[in-house]
Amino acid sequence: NKKVTTADFRRMKQEAKPIAMLTAYDYPTAMLVDASGIDGILVGDSLGNVVLGYDSTVPVTMDDMIHHLRAVTRGAKRALVVGDMPFLSYHISREESVRNAGRLMQEGLAQAVKLEGGREVADTVKAITEAGIPVMGHLGLTPQSVHQMGGYKVQGKDGEAARRLLEDAKALEAAGVFAIVLECIPQQLAKVVTEAVKVPTIGIGAGSDCDGQILVTHDLLGMFSDFTPKFVKKYANLKEQIIKACEDYQQEVRDKAFPGPGHVFNMADEELKKIY
Ligand code: KIV
Ligand code: NA
Repeated sequence: NKKVTTADFRRMKQEAKPIAMLTAYDYPTAMLVDASGIDGILVGDSLGNVVLGYDSTVPVTMDDMIHHLRAVTRGAKRALVVGDMPFLSYHISREESVRNAGRLMQEGLAQAVKLEGGREVADTVKAITEAGIPVMGHLGLTPQSVHQMGGYKVQGKDGEAARRLLEDAKALEAAGVFAIVLECIPQQLAKVVTEAVKVPTIGIGAGSDCDGQILVTHDLLGMFSDFTPKFVKKYANLKEQIIKACEDYQQEVRDKAFPGPGHVFNMADEELKKIY
């Protein structure tokens, strides 16, 4: 089971083999997702919404990301592991951006990093890639800018915005990204972008013409229900199963049906007598 690399991503686009990615934030989930044969695992800053209970990704810190990356990279034997650069970790200066990207690699053991934005982050992307760190871009709905975008909305719907997004994709490619996430944009625009760049596009809410797809694992498993975007398909309803399992446990505790004979330890009678 050879580890998937960024070169494999590029080759898969050339061979028209769709790339499948999911998120993970902890060791057991990373193990399961990896065992399924997934190509890439993103430790997304969606961590903030899905696992830490914030209502946006803005509060997520570098230390949060590293903490969760370490757990995921211990569980993922095969998949390429990408670590999200959190809010403001790549905006202050080029130096700080390279240092933070480096921390995700060195402390979190990520194989690549992802950051949001287009031409405005192109110089930063270039500096990070020049340090030997593969960078994944992220265009369209960029959740770290939610307060600026005025909510979670489909992006690039009008021609002007669509043209800007296409130019941003080309700028990211020129800056050296190995792939670009396209989030929540019209499928027609995603197709144009996918054909315009040589690096693979990974869609989420961007239609089936992207070179790959990504979903938040908790959404796909039906474990997270604060908010479910239109682009999510639930492949399981673990929320119901988890609540049911917890209810069954409680009932058996109250009925004294659990623990049963198979879940207990015994000691010899002569040993028991020594207590008294
Ligand atoms: O944080 C995340 O999970 C992401 C994906 C939705 C692309 O950025
Ligand atoms: Na993210």
